[in-house]
Amino acid sequence: MRRRNHHPHCYTADIWCEGETITRIDRNIAPPPGAEVIDASGKYVFPGFIDPHVHIHLPFMGTFAKDTHETASKAALVGGTTTFIEMICPARADGPMESFELWLGKAQGQSACDFTFHMGLGRYDDQVEQEMDGIVKRGVSSFKIFLAYKGAFGLSDEELYRTLRLAKKLGVITTAHCENADLIVELQQKLVGEGKTGPEWHHESRPPLVEAEGVHHLMTFARLLDAHVYVVHTSCEEAVREAVNGKLGGVKVWIETLIQYLVTDKTFAERPDFEGAKYVMSPPLRDKRNQDLLWNGLRDGFISTLATDHAPFDFATQKRMGIKDFTRIPNGIPSLEDRINVFYTYGVKRGRLDLHRFVDTASTRAAKLFGLFPRKGTIQPGSDADLVVYDPGYRGTISVKTQLMNVDYNPFEGMAIEGRPSAVTVRGQVAARDGKFVGQVGRGRFLEREPSHF
Ligand code: URP
Ligand code: ZN
Ligand code: ZN
Repeated sequence: MRRRNHHPHCYTADIWCEGETITRIDRNIAPPPGAEVIDASGKYVFPGFIDPHVHIHLPFMGTFAKDTHETASKAALVGGTTTFIEMICPARADGPMESFELWLGKAQGQSACDFTFHMGLGRYDDQVEQEMDGIVKRGVSSFKIFLAYKGAFGLSDEELYRTLRLAKKLGVITTAHCENADLIVELQQKLVGEGKTGPEWHHESRPPLVEAEGVHHLMTFARLLDAHVYVVHTSCEEAVREAVNGKLGGVKVWIETLIQYLVTDKTFAERPDFEGAKYVMSPPLRDKRNQDLLWNGLRDGFISTLATDHAPFDFATQKRMGIKDFTRIPNGIPSLEDRINVFYTYGVKRGRLDLHRFVDTASTRAAKLFGLFPRKGTIQPGSDADLVVYDPGYRGTISVKTQLMNVDYNPFEGMAIEGRPSAVTVRGQVAARDGKFVGQVGRGRFLEREPSHF
């Protein structure tokens, strides 16, 4: 495979892979007879992309997200994502180890791409404390907590304090959904009481201040405990400011945003005939004015990663659970398949960020933050041969009719894309070609990660 251009990290060369690993990068490597050659002339070769925030097995709001690990990993691969990090989301009553085994069992033997997990804590007590230690030893070196979803996944302040203290002791990073849970309940009750029950009111029930308060809250606790934290799905200026303020005050904090927030806005959730329900997620899609700030953050580095928070619920059935009351619409938007093509088209192609920031925010940074680097997130000898041969000449349109995600709509329906992976490899084997899955279901490996002791 040949890489192009003149930047020290962007050049023309051949990449030689043996078995599952990249072993040599050089000019004009002569392939021995019988070697499989992928001609990448005129194309880019990127390291396999990493989605650091997805939901596949997700029991949530009285239903389950639609993808299986088979359907999700196929969709990921055709879109250039070769590794995902799934959120394990135990309910309050569930034990951590039983939840870890449940999620691992669902992925192993089913996923076509490599995977790992952020371990969610649905509560905090002695059992949780003991079992989390065992789970970290099994290779899961990041936690997930919710400061939202009161009565479901949300933690109290006492639990938040103890969780961050444990994370610090075990040397793991804590990823957090930041919204003030009590404010949401109050605002939801007020709106529904006023007869404001359509999906267009979802945003009003979780305005930017509610998210910003959640981030501020996390910053306070992380600062007191010197804990390493990562704010998932940051959607708006108010929340980014709180996290950046935390950073300036010495908090070890990293910021994630989502592809949805960059290209869709709150007017999508205001679409008539309940269609807005397709765009109900939390934090909500925001006013369009936030998009420039998020793009600039990715370009300048104060936002670290671009994820999807992939959470597919069918429009025809599951989203309709909230037809009379927006608080019952399952929260989530599917986007695992399209993240890279949309990011490339509306980011790189439109001059909003360069190729280096594109690769860093969609692959390398997540590998570094979550203990996967240099095995993943880079093209160098010794790294896994996860490669995306990317065709910048491709022109197409996103549609539910051609997607592999197992859900009945696509949030980016009709959107033009200017680029697509023409070949995707997972540890040396081609898994996708030109929008088609050609890989092996079950070949995906659970990636064990070490704690970092930041
Ligand atoms: O609306 C969302 N984001 N659904 C998935 C669960 C979560 O909060 O990440
Ligand atoms: Zn969340
Ligand atoms: Zn999520």
